[in-house]
Formats: sequence, C-alpha cells, structure tokens
Amino acid sequence: MADIKSHIVSTGHYLPEKALTNQDLEKMVDTTDEWIFQRSGIKSRHIATEDQKTSDLATAAAKEALERSGLNASDIGAIIVATTTPDQTFPAVAVRVQAALDIPPCIAFDVQAVCSGFVYALSVADNFIKAGQVKRVLVIGAEKMSSIVNWEDRTTCVLFADGAGALILEGRKEGEGIVSTHLYADGRHADILQTSGGPSMNGVSGHIEMEGREVFKHAVVCMANVVEEAIRANGFIPEDIDWLVPHQANIRIIESTAKKLNMPMDKVVVTVEGHGNTSAASIPLALHTAVADGRIKRGQLLLLEAMGGGLTWGSALIRF
Ligand code: UT7
Repeated sequence: MADIKSHIVSTGHYLPEKALTNQDLEKMVDTTDEWIFQRSGIKSRHIATEDQKTSDLATAAAKEALERSGLNASDIGAIIVATTTPDQTFPAVAVRVQAALDIPPCIAFDVQAVCSGFVYALSVADNFIKAGQVKRVLVIGAEKMSSIVNWEDRTTCVLFADGAGALILEGRKEGEGIVSTHLYADGRHADILQTSGGPSMNGVSGHIEMEGREVFKHAVVCMANVVEEAIRANGFIPEDIDWLVPHQANIRIIESTAKKLNMPMDKVVVTVEGHGNTSAASIPLALHTAVADGRIKRGQLLLLEAMGGGLTWGSALIRF
C-alpha cells in the first residue's frame, strides 16, 4: 500500500466576522500598534462571537472544502480536527462537525498538539490513507483561542485569534500528494507555553501562559531543523520548494526560517498580519488563502511547518 498518495482534493476556510485591530487593543491593555506590529507582524485578527463555538468555525470551513471538492458528505471516511479549544471537554469537535454536515458513521476524533496540531492531524490522516483503512479524510484545524486568552494579559492577548481551515485528502494510486511528514515533541519544555487550567487539574479550561522569549528561541531552532530535514530526507534542495506555508505565530520567526532556506519572502505565504496566531487553524487558513487567490498551483511543492505548546513541532512536504 506504500504507493498510495494522499492527494489534497480541496481546501476551505472560515474567519469570524468581527475584526479586532491593534488600535482596538490599545484601548483594552497597555500596548501600542507599533509594539505589536514590530514584535509580531500582526495588525488585526478575527474574534468569534460569544455564542460561536469552535465546532461552528470548523463546520463552516469543512462545508466550504466539501463544496469545492464536488464530493458528497457520504464520501468522507474520517474526520480529524486539530484543536486546543474544543467546545466541551468531550465529545470531540469532530463528531459535532460530522452531525452538522450529515456525514454518515465514520471515524471521527480530535488531535491535540496545540499550534502543531494541523501538521499532526495531516500526518495521522496520511497514515490512515496509506494503510488503506480509509479513502478520504476531512482534516480541519479550528480554534477559538479568544476563549482561553486572559484579556488583561498584554503579553498574550495581542497575539492569539480565532478561525478555521480545512482540507480533504483522497488516496490515489498515482499523482500528487503528501510526500512526507516529520513530527516531534519535547515535553521537558511543556511549562513555557501552557494553560493555567484543565479538567483534571482544577476543573476550568484556564488561560494561556507563555514565556514568549523562550518559546521564540526554541521556535527558530526547531523550525529550521524540521524544514531542512524534510527537504534532505526526500532528496530535494531548498530551491525545489515553491511555497513555504508556515504556522503564523510571528513574522520574525517566519522570516528566520525563510532565511535559513535562502528563500525569498515572495515564496512564503504570510497571513499573520490579518489573522494573528490562530494556533492549529493557522496553516490550513494560510494554505486556503494562497490556493483560493491562485498563488499555489497544482503540481507545486509546498512545505508546511509548525511549532507550538508541548513543545511540539513538525513539517509536511506536499506535492500539490
Ligand atoms: O504559536 C505558538 C508558538 N508561539 C510563538 O511562537 C510565540 C513566540 N514568541 C514571540 O513571538 C515573541 O516572544 C513575542 C511576540 C511574544 C514577544 O516579543 P519579544 O520581542 O520576545 O518581547 P519580550 O517578551 O522580550 O518583551 C519585551 C518587552 C518587555 O518589557 P521589558 O521587560 O523589556 O521592560 C515586555 O514587558 O515588551 C513588553 N511587552 C509589551 N509592551 C507593549 C510585552 N507585551 C507587550 C505589549 N505591548 N503587548
């Protein structure tokens, strides 16, 4: 079965209507537009309404991916949602999406690897397909990060945001698809990016706590290593990559990874300015943006990479 390729049939996205600008944040905490933009590259971000749940964002993105694929709900064999902000402790967001889209009984579960979640979910889906267990997987990254942000903590509330991105993978005997995935975690650094709560710790979901400078240092190293590994492991050179589609946490981390690959910034998909850090949703949102506006074309080689709480990090090399 090793010759089966997980081909990306279609993508979809959803961004909540409400935009929260740096100027809005200036009125909420002791910060400035200049500080936020210089340190992170963010100018504005989307925030869900109080009654919008992560599964609502995920469902909207998945619906678009399904519509763009021309497939029916019954064609989906598995739903994997990467999220760190589920509607409830259980059930999984994936089953809420399943019910909302009328997808008949199939595999459905969530993956929790924080900002690396989408790359992890993609890898799990790819392995399901390569093993011949399912033909098509709906892979979604969806987050309502605004629900776990402490809106009085200026060091984090200016960074995180809400949104969802989705894609449909289909097993094909030949043609384009996922070339490789590389995943890592190092739990020794779990405390530098975490929430202050959880079901078995104190019964609340808690708020994001981040040692930004420490995370930044790890991110630069981990991203550089994992993209180089992806390229080398497949016998490519950096010049073979058509598009870098990175996790959108900080423009300085993105630029540093691109520099390491000697890649001009016009080959990097950047959405951080208008999306902020949407955790597991950031890569599929960036991917959809560049597919929908025609920058990413069929046959091109894409390198996806992410790093987040855990610490977790990983990459996916894809012939689109
Ligand atoms: O997606 C998961 C992975 N997450 C990441 O990759 C995030 C990684 N980290 C970062 O992106 C950056 O570390 C930040 C954007 C979070 C912060 O940038 P920095 O250049 O590392 O700033 P810093 O944390 O070293 O803070 C510099 C100063 C501090 O003041 P002092 O100690 O120098 O007096 C902060 O208190 O900026 C202060 N500061 C702020 N000032 C204005 C912190 N937050 C703010 C703020 N507005 N919002």
